[in-house]
Amino acid sequence: MSMVDHGWHSMNSLDWSTSSWRDFPVSQKVEWPNLNHTAGVMTQLANLPALVFAEETRSLQRHLSEAAVGESFILQCGDCAEDFERCNGPRIHRLLRVILQMATVLSYAGGKKVVGVGRMAGQYAKPRSNAYDTIDGIPIPVYRGDMINGPEATADARIPNPDRMLQAYFRSVATLNLVRAFTTGGYASLENVLEWHTASSSAIPLSDQYLPLAKEIERAVRFLKAQGSDNGMRDLRESKIYASHEALLLEYEEALTRVDTLTGDWYDTSAHFLWVGERTRQPEGAHVEFLRGVNNPLGIKVGPGFLNDDIARVIDKLNPNNIAGRISLITRFGAPRIGEYLPKLTQLVEKEGFNVVWICDPMHGNTVSTDDNRKTRRMTDMLSEIKTFFDVHACGKTHAGGIHLELTGEDVTECLGGSQNIDEETLSENYQTLCDPRLNANQSLELAFEIASILEVKK
Ligand code: PEP
Ligand code: CO
Repeated sequence: MSMVDHGWHSMNSLDWSTSSWRDFPVSQKVEWPNLNHTAGVMTQLANLPALVFAEETRSLQRHLSEAAVGESFILQCGDCAEDFERCNGPRIHRLLRVILQMATVLSYAGGKKVVGVGRMAGQYAKPRSNAYDTIDGIPIPVYRGDMINGPEATADARIPNPDRMLQAYFRSVATLNLVRAFTTGGYASLENVLEWHTASSSAIPLSDQYLPLAKEIERAVRFLKAQGSDNGMRDLRESKIYASHEALLLEYEEALTRVDTLTGDWYDTSAHFLWVGERTRQPEGAHVEFLRGVNNPLGIKVGPGFLNDDIARVIDKLNPNNIAGRISLITRFGAPRIGEYLPKLTQLVEKEGFNVVWICDPMHGNTVSTDDNRKTRRMTDMLSEIKTFFDVHACGKTHAGGIHLELTGEDVTECLGGSQNIDEETLSENYQTLCDPRLNANQSLELAFEIASILEVKK
């Protein structure tokens, strides 16, 4: 392979195209009412600028290859589902702030280089377990994310509308623009570590933990400034947060996939990192077919069902040349099951010699329903899954490479536990999610401190 051949695409180019997925079974298929309309929207999207630049995508892949060997730690987090109505500046600002705070806690207290990856700027399509909702005894098609249909509980709102892909694109552009402005324009500078805290009232219960750390960082930053270390200061003033989402709606992904002019390779420019979900990762399915042809780093969600399907075939198909940083296995077994399943998966991966990044998603295997039918998750279950994740990797030759969380910068009451003592009664106070329950800002920071203390011990 030549130095500029960053992937294997050139070898597969004969039998892959951006639309070859159409010849394979599509799970979670969207039944568009008018295919000409959908094709017209795809043409418009295909003519619009890329959201991300391939060189940025490659730089994330390099960070991922470091995480595979324990040299950095991936913090992937954001909403379960973004929604059009809540795409506004203050909300994006609060989400970024909590991600920056978590990254600071993990890197300073945990002593690891942390790479932030948002579930944002494109997380607008959702896989659903049931195709229908029952409203007043009448079945209507289920909500599939704002990029496809509307959340309102009417049959009309649930008709897929391809114009929503354009709306999702423009909101993703606006979101990413603000992310770039905040992360490179000075706000993300470690000089602001105290101000992030005082500006976020919801983080006040954690002051005992956060403030001493922030003050220590401030002193260190003052010291660096006094030394006049320009390079060091530049690193502290900027931070990079990459964009990621589930590559579920293949019409959208196809339209945004282009050849990178520098390398001649295909990249899906809708995000830096894309993942394939637990429900769409069939080895002979359309999603795996599409993703095998793009050179972005990819995530594969893996739940307990992997024993009955051919996960090795999926990994091999997506990464036939075993390139470092290309594949992240995002495991989501659930607290009671991870101790049994994760060692089986690490053994399988070791036996095959696959090069992967191990990321823990302690959310999707720990969803429970309350008596009044609200989806929630307990922080104690998440922490238990995270601890076992670290223990299993510490026992073997593999590395705990990162964490994947559903969270928001808002003061919501969707997950149980934490220092605010959110219980089943308080859940209804500010339960906003259209999909899965998310950690609020305070719970997120609390979890970051817990993970940092594990990282510190394992160092
Ligand atoms: C998700 O990450 O929101 C999701 C649907 O996950 P999974 O595919 O693991 O169920
Ligand atoms: Co979710």
